[in-house]
Amino acid sequence: MTAQIIDGNALSKQLRADVATRAQALRAKGITPGLAVVLVGDNPASQVYVRNKVKACEDNGLFSVLEKYDASLSEADLLARVKALNKDPAIHGILVQLPLPGHMDAQKVIEAISPSKDVDGFHIASAGALMTGMPGFWPCTPYGCMKMLESIGYDLRGKHAVVIGRSNIVGKPMALMLLQKNATVTICHSATPDLKAMTLQADVIVAAVGKRNVLTADMVKPGAVVLDVGMNRNDEGKLCGDVDFEGVTAVASHITPVPGGVGPMTITMLLVNTLEAAERATK
Ligand code: GUN
Repeated sequence: MTAQIIDGNALSKQLRADVATRAQALRAKGITPGLAVVLVGDNPASQVYVRNKVKACEDNGLFSVLEKYDASLSEADLLARVKALNKDPAIHGILVQLPLPGHMDAQKVIEAISPSKDVDGFHIASAGALMTGMPGFWPCTPYGCMKMLESIGYDLRGKHAVVIGRSNIVGKPMALMLLQKNATVTICHSATPDLKAMTLQADVIVAAVGKRNVLTADMVKPGAVVLDVGMNRNDEGKLCGDVDFEGVTAVASHITPVPGGVGPMTITMLLVNTLEAAERATK
């Protein structure tokens, strides 16, 4: 078997076209969906990420502001800035890029964002909404993974999904989303004694560890769907995921590549959440 590639760029293009149409409809009513991106410090990876987020907004009819602050900004000043953005009617979504400098309590900063503007889905109110099935914002990366499964018409009911990784940003919310769609879900992590025994039972595997070759062909049941959330560099410095793509492609039915898989979907779902926030604000 050679797995079918789930193309995150192609799917993003479709979903972003829908965002652009909905943004246009809001603008016709005099409301431009607005995202504030806050970056503290000069982490090079964060600089690239925020630039891409702002550009994606501009390309799809959303307004965005990028607020950059020196790494020496005090936590109190950042909290004050977030509170001002909470009150700003032109801003529907607020994203504080992580990681923050070491002298700041990132969770405290996230909790300062109004849940109605928490387009990253990191606030505890958003986490609680996801857990209980209430309306809220879903974290963008696992939300993008769900859209990828939807794009291949995959019905999760009765299927066994194995999530490798238990972060608050990907692993845990991913498991809850899969559960909501009636999958039987197993979360594996660094203390799981026999990862291969778990993954071999899986119909769907989501690898979200941040380490190369966490999932190899011998760990995958023939015909399984494999989603790769990893973003790593190989020995040649090339971008690669957590999955041994070459090997697993020969076993899986569907697989997401790195780059061009889950990565572009994360920004796409940020646009979707921001638009949703703007639409909710008009109701
Ligand atoms: N840092 C790395 N990924 C993300 C993300 O999705 N959102 C925020 N706020 N910070 C990040």
